[in-house]
Amino acid sequence: MQAPSGCPFMNKEDFNPFDLSNPFPQYKEFRQEKPVFFSEELGYYVVTRYEDVKAVFSNWKTYTSQNAQSPFKPISPKAKALMEEQGLVGLSGLSGRIPPDHTRIRRIVSMAFSLKRIKKLEPRIRELAIKMITKFKDDGEAEIVKQLAYDLPALVIFMLLGVPDKDVEKVKSWAESRLLMTWGNLTDEEQLVHAQNLVNYWKYCENMVAMRKENPTDDLPGDLIRLQEEGHEITDREIATICYSQLFAGHETTTSLMANGIRELLLHRDSWKAICSHPELIPNAVEEVLRFSPSIVSWRRRTLEDSVIGDVEIPANSNLLIVMGSANRDESNFENGEQFDIQRENSKEHLSFGFGIHFCLGSPLAKLEFKTVLEELTRLVPNMKLKENQEFKFAENTSFRAPVALEVEW
Ligand code: HEM
Repeated sequence: MQAPSGCPFMNKEDFNPFDLSNPFPQYKEFRQEKPVFFSEELGYYVVTRYEDVKAVFSNWKTYTSQNAQSPFKPISPKAKALMEEQGLVGLSGLSGRIPPDHTRIRRIVSMAFSLKRIKKLEPRIRELAIKMITKFKDDGEAEIVKQLAYDLPALVIFMLLGVPDKDVEKVKSWAESRLLMTWGNLTDEEQLVHAQNLVNYWKYCENMVAMRKENPTDDLPGDLIRLQEEGHEITDREIATICYSQLFAGHETTTSLMANGIRELLLHRDSWKAICSHPELIPNAVEEVLRFSPSIVSWRRRTLEDSVIGDVEIPANSNLLIVMGSANRDESNFENGEQFDIQRENSKEHLSFGFGIHFCLGSPLAKLEFKTVLEELTRLVPNMKLKENQEFKFAENTSFRAPVALEVEW
């Protein structure tokens, strides 16, 4: 896409939106020098200051979320045809929907996804964490993503959605295809492989609904079907799209939270020691990790009318990339924002779960999972440290940021 002619914020420099290895110094420059600019690489206006990001999230009428799940790179004709043939068109659980549909579906999903149901999962989360940590505790070393952070959130969300343990790997790999197809930088051939995975993934979700209509179950999709039968207005396809989005949103991001969090806490050794001796600091440490090193560094909106963000005039029908990873370190809201401080009083004001009508429905679950994991890790392996000389790799995409692997020893 071409930059709008005459735009003073045209950015031709070295902004590579797909490289998330360490975007923070550049975010800082943007906040100071051009807090809102047009990225030619993406064809998006990039919004980097706290106040502006929050204002965009808050105003769903001007800044619609309908583009939140659309692919950054155009889908190739072959991959598109494959997906369309199988009914895989315009699927969004909630985050890409707008009122009144969004309000109607979110109300019903919130009933099924209650705090009571989440709280009930805590003993099982702890049991899983202890079991997984105990497996590697006597080895003196571990790869934390592979041996803990990758599977645990998936097992939890699958429990909530009633998916058997044997399907963990399959659905996890479909979820990765989902990430790459929407936020990645794939070639046409790669797209075709991932498109087939998405077709299988969608069929699996449709099947989950069909099976529960025959045999009711005590899980989240089972609850949604019960609510439908009681007269709440939600279609079978909408329930399947909720499964499709939860089986992705419900673990990928929490895996990232754990990987980023354990890495930051070990890099900032005093913070790790502090939570080992004072576990009561853990809940705020979780918030600080979310602020400092968010699982999702940027999200999307589209303008429905002309508007002004910062002092930049943005025409209707423009795409926006709103950068929470930058907003979360904005000095105007977070004193010494570039410093990691687990005792920061306003860590919770981060925008990592969004803000406004789309505020993440799964945030209590994600925080509960990481809190429980940290309680057990600090209790069972308090001497854990990062292995020296490791190079941290981050998958190439615009939004989802976490180290692919994390080698530790004790
Ligand atoms: C660290 C983990 C997580 C992060 C960083 C995260 C982040 C986000 C973000 C940025 C949004 C979009 C907000 C907006 O557009 O304003 C969102 C929406 C959502 N998240 Fe999460 N999420 C996480 C975990 C989860 C989990 C565990 C679940 C479910 C079990 C979940 C379910 C959802 C749903 C359903 C929405 C859409 C809400 C709506 O549009 O009304 N998320 N999340």
